[in-house]
Amino acid sequence: MNVKLANQPLELIHADLTLEFLTASQLETHSHKSLLTQAGFKAEAEQLCPLHEHRLLICGISDVSHENLRSAMATAIKTAMNYGYASIKLSQYGENLFKSLIEGAILGSYQFNSYKSQPKAISLKEVIFSTQNIDKIALNADTLTSILEESIIISNATNFVRNLVNQTPYDMTPQGMAITADSLSKTNNLDCTILDVNGLESEKMNAMLSVGRASINPPRLIHLSYKPKNPKKVITLVGKGLTYDSGGLSLKAAASMVTMKMDKAGGCAVMGVIKAVSELKLDIEVHAFVGAVENMIGGNAYKPDDVLVAKNGKTIEVRNTDAEGRLVLADVLGYAQEKIKADYIFDYATLTGACMVALGPYTTGVMGHNEELKQEWLNAAEKSGEYCGILPFNRHLKKLIKSDLADVCNVSSKPYGGAITAALFLDNFIDEDMKQKWVHFDIAGSAYTESAWDVHTYGGTGAGVRMTLNWLIENCK
Ligand code: BES
Ligand code: ZN
Ligand code: ZN
Repeated sequence: MNVKLANQPLELIHADLTLEFLTASQLETHSHKSLLTQAGFKAEAEQLCPLHEHRLLICGISDVSHENLRSAMATAIKTAMNYGYASIKLSQYGENLFKSLIEGAILGSYQFNSYKSQPKAISLKEVIFSTQNIDKIALNADTLTSILEESIIISNATNFVRNLVNQTPYDMTPQGMAITADSLSKTNNLDCTILDVNGLESEKMNAMLSVGRASINPPRLIHLSYKPKNPKKVITLVGKGLTYDSGGLSLKAAASMVTMKMDKAGGCAVMGVIKAVSELKLDIEVHAFVGAVENMIGGNAYKPDDVLVAKNGKTIEVRNTDAEGRLVLADVLGYAQEKIKADYIFDYATLTGACMVALGPYTTGVMGHNEELKQEWLNAAEKSGEYCGILPFNRHLKKLIKSDLADVCNVSSKPYGGAITAALFLDNFIDEDMKQKWVHFDIAGSAYTESAWDVHTYGGTGAGVRMTLNWLIENCK
């Protein structure tokens, strides 16, 4: 969707349709009140009423807020895409709400049609915002322009991630992830290093290699970096990039295996973030590491009972091959910390079903040792339109991943608190000097959806992208 700003009053802008958001009290004094009321319109949240003869689309909102406008814009645009109009125009609702409207329009109009032989043609191509607000007061055009530019970059990066996540495991293999990273590095002027199996062997990344061993699609480690001249901070991002998670020999049940192409969403998210950071030209050095691996079965598969030696030398007792993400991350976190001395290290992973049990299917789990840092992330998420919740560590939970055989076990001895014990497993691979600088994000629920919600439609959501850009912009000045 093409989103534009016109430095004109709304009435002078040429467009096929006008979109208006109305609260119940605004409905009372609206010029089309009787027509709208006859049509059963009550201005309930996201209730839509088209008045085609007036070229108007009215959308209800409970009150004017970021969350309501973002969602309402997405709902309105999805509906408008079913009509035959080519363009839609609307007024401003204040400078600080503009971002939400733009994101609602771009994220809400996203469609993934790569696997449709005959995708439905959509007439709607353009959303035009006036620089005037609903009371016909002109807002600052320069401020609005810079909000528009920033929001377009962030929304497009989110859609870039969605496109990657939505590709089938046949199309998006670890090699495919590496090719994607390589072409991103060329278009966005990033450095790109890819390690193949030989490279992983020389780096002693045996945990990651073991997970990928039974696949005909060999693993790849991707390192993308963006290095501005005088960076304010150095940030490392690590993503779980399981292009397919069958569970391995601890095979998933048939129903749970469906959607496991999304297990690469953390890896895709860090690529989306570095894409946006480079386009926004932020003064922050960013390194994105992705462990791209396929977890399969076969005669040479790694097994429950194996003991793996991770890159940092720690030994891991494998009791469940479906807890593979933490094994891949153990090595990638080790590699990332060895190569880059960063101010912060953040990892993103569709790590546990338990995170969804704890927080529901829309919320990212936030874990780490630094309370203040986690709170910063909660604020960034809230502002960006993502949902985050802190899952607290404690010393008793840590005991649940003790192993009698090796240094640590890859699964917990108790069936509760699985998102936290997974994070506590990762903690074994965070260097002492990075403990307070690390945050782990479990995006198992938030990264993928099979039913539309908020600005999301079926498929990848791009979880992690908006909140991370918000955190970077706010905290690396
Ligand atoms: N990729 C899954 C976690 C997952 C589940 C993500 C559902 C999204 C939706 C992960 O590799 C996994 O299988 N975790 C196991 C861990 C268990 C074996 C300790 C899980 O959550 O069941
Ligand atoms: Zn798994
Ligand atoms: Zn997994």
